Amino acid sequence: MSGSTVFRALVATRNAGKLAELVSLLAPLGWSLVTLTDLELAPHPDEDAIEAYDSFEFNALAKARWFAARTGLLTLADDSGLMVDALGGAPGVRSRRWSGHAELDGDALDAANNAHLLQVLAARGEVTRRARFVCAAACAWSGGSMVAEGACAGVILQAPRGTGGFGYDPLFEVASLGATFAELSREAKAEVGHRGRAFGVLARMLAPLQAAGVFHGGAEDLAPPVDLGRDRG
Ligand code: IMP
Repeated sequence: MSGSTVFRALVATRNAGKLAELVSLLAPLGWSLVTLTDLELAPHPDEDAIEAYDSFEFNALAKARWFAARTGLLTLADDSGLMVDALGGAPGVRSRRWSGHAELDGDALDAANNAHLLQVLAARGEVTRRARFVCAAACAWSGGSMVAEGACAGVILQAPRGTGGFGYDPLFEVASLGATFAELSREAKAEVGHRGRAFGVLARMLAPLQAAGVFHGGAEDLAPPVDLGRDRG
């Protein structure tokens, strides 16, 4: 089977900001990408409980495997979060619900999380504002799964800057650029960001399997065990 075969892959996220980034990051793979909305896959009561692990890799794999099993499609998913040095790596895998507001979603949830981050750091006084974003990118199919990790170093600002992106983007200044994620174009964020790095590693890991036809019927015994790649830039 040729590596140029076009086939369908599900991008399994309900986060609109993340979805926009993933679709542009994954375009070079040349796959036909479908979303949960395209499939009209309503949220399942078990969905929030999938990412119950203390590791980005485990959560990303769990998400990709769960949606692959539910849809029968090769599935891409990520788990990501912000790790702040002065907070011992928090909020980490709890980044999404860190401010506690279970009733909020989208921009309102992001605003509550950002306000919480500023408050918590202000209450600590003069501490280091060093932080990093981490992303685990996972792929699961009927015969196996793979995961790769990427990270991006920066500092947490005293006040938001920029209007792009999502989540904690306006408070995170990339160490190497002096600009926040929210001030970068999608392409620039993809180049230096945790998600772009993680999916870049994952794409390099998947390319030989795709060329070997592993994702198409009849070659499932070739599927590799879980593997770990890293780009910590
Ligand atoms: P999850 O990976 O869907 O569990 O969500 C991770 C959470 O981490 C998001 O809801 C955001 O709050 C935060 N996060 C992850 N990646 C980014 C990013 O690229 N920019 C800003 N916030 C992010």
